[in-house]
Amino acid sequence: MSTHTRTSRLTVPQLVAMKGRQKIVSLTAYSSAIAQVIDPLVDFILVGDSTAMVGYGRPSTLGMRLDETIAHTRAVVDSTRLACVIADMPFGSYQESHEQAFRNCAQVLASTGCDALKLEANQALASTVEFLVARGIPIMAHIGLMPQFVNAMGGYKAQGLSPDSAAALRADAQANLHAGAFSLLLEGVAEPVARAITQASHKPTIGIGASPACDGQVLVTEDLLGLGGDHVPRFVKQYADVGQVIREACARYADEVRDGAFPALHHCYGA
Ligand code: KIV
Repeated sequence: MSTHTRTSRLTVPQLVAMKGRQKIVSLTAYSSAIAQVIDPLVDFILVGDSTAMVGYGRPSTLGMRLDETIAHTRAVVDSTRLACVIADMPFGSYQESHEQAFRNCAQVLASTGCDALKLEANQALASTVEFLVARGIPIMAHIGLMPQFVNAMGGYKAQGLSPDSAAALRADAQANLHAGAFSLLLEGVAEPVARAITQASHKPTIGIGASPACDGQVLVTEDLLGLGGDHVPRFVKQYADVGQVIREACARYADEVRDGAFPALHHCYGA
């Protein structure tokens, strides 16, 4: 099994130093149970705003609230000791002004103990990234398919397929690197564009539906476990059918309860 030999939590500079040396492994976690299991296996855990869809059954990530981000991130930080923890800033919590972004980012960082934050940041938001980085907040800039722009995009659409879209993506990458982002997350980006951005970047790129040339990959944990419901993107490889395991175990339980086969008290507590 691919565990690492770390004995303390990976820091942001250590994550950045992995570029060109070792591929970076990442998964999402929103709960203590998943975070504990993946902590020794991954380099960073993303407390994604996909919590809104995967954890709460909402139709998009737009409804994620700041207090929810704080609660889930704190649960993940408190349940882990090895992986770097990065929290995703929810829609509406950083786009209004530099000051609003700083206030909310500082609150998440200070009240959860996470290591860094992720913003969906095109060129227009690069000045916000610069403002935050200058004030001590490490930022991963998410470009390409940005789910918080779902209404503007008219759906979830791969990016970088046309020459204009590829040029816009390269400009988004450059602007965020110039602003001081410690990493770029490339979601739904055409392979040659993701490859070119990775080669031109001195900071690690993390792909999700992008290119194996990226410096690492992040996936939504539930998607690779067969718990992603109807939202699993086509590029995700399913490594297990945990949904089926849960179904079979719960069906056995239901049968036993209906048969009256409850454990006696001394079986539960060893009395
Ligand atoms: O919210 C999330 O889980 C994400 C990943 C899909 C990259 O942003």
